[in-house]
Amino acid sequence: MGNLDGKIAVVTGSAQGIGYGSAKVLAQHGATVILVDFAEAVKDTAEELKQMGLKADWRRCDVSKLDEVQETVDDIIKQYGRIDILHNNAGVNRRVRFEDLDVKTRDFIFGVNIYGVWNMTKAVYPYMMKEKYGRIIITSSVTGVKVVDEGQTTYAMTKGAVLSLAKALAYEAGPYGITVNAILPGWVRTPKVEQVAADSRPEDPEGAMRDMAGFIPLGRLCRVEEIGDLVAFLASDDAKYITGTEMVIDGGSTLPETFNILHA
Ligand SMILES: NC(=O)c1ccc[n+]([C@@H]2O[C@H](COP(=O)([O-])OP(=O)(O)OC[C@H]3O[C@@H](n4cnc5c(N)ncnc54)[C@H](O)[C@@H]3O)[C@@H](O)[C@H]2O)c1
Repeated sequence: MGNLDGKIAVVTGSAQGIGYGSAKVLAQHGATVILVDFAEAVKDTAEELKQMGLKADWRRCDVSKLDEVQETVDDIIKQYGRIDILHNNAGVNRRVRFEDLDVKTRDFIFGVNIYGVWNMTKAVYPYMMKEKYGRIIITSSVTGVKVVDEGQTTYAMTKGAVLSLAKALAYEAGPYGITVNAILPGWVRTPKVEQVAADSRPEDPEGAMRDMAGFIPLGRLCRVEEIGDLVAFLASDDAKYITGTEMVIDGGSTLPETFNILHA
């Protein structure tokens, strides 16, 4: 028996990466999880979870399109009756220095990272208000909120924006028994991050990964299931008094002030 038995959870961007880890752990705690992603692979990912004996379903949807999102959420409600947990996780990134950015890239990143989160929340929230219950978890990032990197201006903006949404909505949602929290991961080993390593050092991506891990006090990147553990906690009854907060999960990566330059 899990502490999320009987709960209905929706996780966006769950065909792979953090969303996959979140969906798996929520389901391991007993929730029925609907994986939402625009990638065709979402079906196989849901099947994989079912093979593990977990309760999983899937919908294909582009979260940046409000009409698609509304249709998807209405359809989930029709089948499952309510949504107790929403993990707004789908996100994209492009590393481009500010002077080289164009409007198309800006709108692409805003479209998924800001509008996508807004769209899903907008569609699910009225159903949660009706139930007087809900747990909304938003994947922000340490990027933009705590630290920055080259080529991340637009991505950083979006992660700050969704953190602000979590706080502002938490304030309004409290009287309806709905909590809203943001999680701020550091480096998590996902297909996206593996691609970053491969792009930066095509001849030795694993070496790039090891060097990244060298800057993290806990000595390794986060596993997607460890993000799932945090999401499951925030979705659980143990977190019923936690709302409007930001939870950093970075293995201590944002702690260093000088990156040991003073000891070099
Ligand atoms: N990996 C990290 O180190 C890290 C750190 C901090 C924050 N994040 C955030 O975590 C989230 C997931 O990152 P990840 O590393 O797992 O990425 P990923 O690229 O491995 O997976 C993202 C998933 O989102 C889906 N997706 C993208 N656009 C979509 C859209 N318009 N509609 C529906 N689905 C869409 C993709 O198909 C994919 O399955 C993102 O919001 C990202 O910004 C990641």
